[in-house]
Amino acid sequence: MKLFLDTGFSEEVKSVREWCSIDGVTTNPSLIAKSGKSFRQAVGDICEVLPDGDISAEIISMEYSQMLEEALSISDISKNIVIKIPVSEQGLRLTEELSRRGIRTNLTLVFSLPQVLLCAKAGATYISVFMGRIDDIAFDNAVNILSNAVSVVEKYHYSSEILAASIRHPVHLVQTMQEGVHAVTVPYSVLKGLYKHPLTSSGIDRFMLDWEAAGLDLQK
Ligand code: E4P
Repeated sequence: MKLFLDTGFSEEVKSVREWCSIDGVTTNPSLIAKSGKSFRQAVGDICEVLPDGDISAEIISMEYSQMLEEALSISDISKNIVIKIPVSEQGLRLTEELSRRGIRTNLTLVFSLPQVLLCAKAGATYISVFMGRIDDIAFDNAVNILSNAVSVVEKYHYSSEILAASIRHPVHLVQTMQEGVHAVTVPYSVLKGLYKHPLTSSGIDRFMLDWEAAGLDLQK
C-alpha cells in the first residue's frame, strides 16, 4: 500500500521522512495557500525533499488549452510530478492527452463510482476518492465507494490506482487497509499519531522501571 503525506509544507515532509518511509506527497490549492510560499517554491521544495516520491500538484484553470499549458509547465518542475486534475469533462480530456504523452495524473474530487469509471478509462494514474468530505455530508458511504472503486479497477484491469484522500482520523486509514485500497494520503496531524498506543507507552515505562530496579547494564 502506498502512503502519501497530504501537505503543502516541505518542512512536514522532511520531518516525517526521518521516521516514516512515505511514497509521495499530495498537495492542493488550499494546502499550498497555507504554506505561505509561492506555488512553484512550495512544490519545488517538496520535490527536493522527496526526489523519489510521487508529488501531486494541482492545475487551477477550467479551460482546456490553459489546463494543458498549466499541466505541462507544472510537470517541468521535476520528474516526480503527478498532475492533479479535478474531475470534469475537460479534466478527463486532459487526462487522456497527458496519458498519451506519458505524464502521470491524479484525478481529484472524486465522490462516485461513475466518476471512478470515467477516470480509469481516461488513463488516470491515481483516482482520489475523498472519504472525509463524503462523511461530512452523510449522503453516501465513503467505505462502500472506496471498496467498490477498488473492485472496479481490479475486475476490469484498469491501470489506475485508487487513492483514499480527505483522511480525518486513524479509523479512516484502518478502513482503507481493510478494503485493499491501493494508496492513501494522510495529513501530518494524523500521521504523527499513528505509531502511538497507550499500551506501547506503558509497556516502555514498565520495562524501564524493571530494568533500573534490577540495576542492569547493557554492557554486562
Ligand atoms: C487530496 O489529495 C486532498 O489534498 C485532501 O486529502 C483533501 O482533504 P480535506 O477534505 O481534509 O481537505
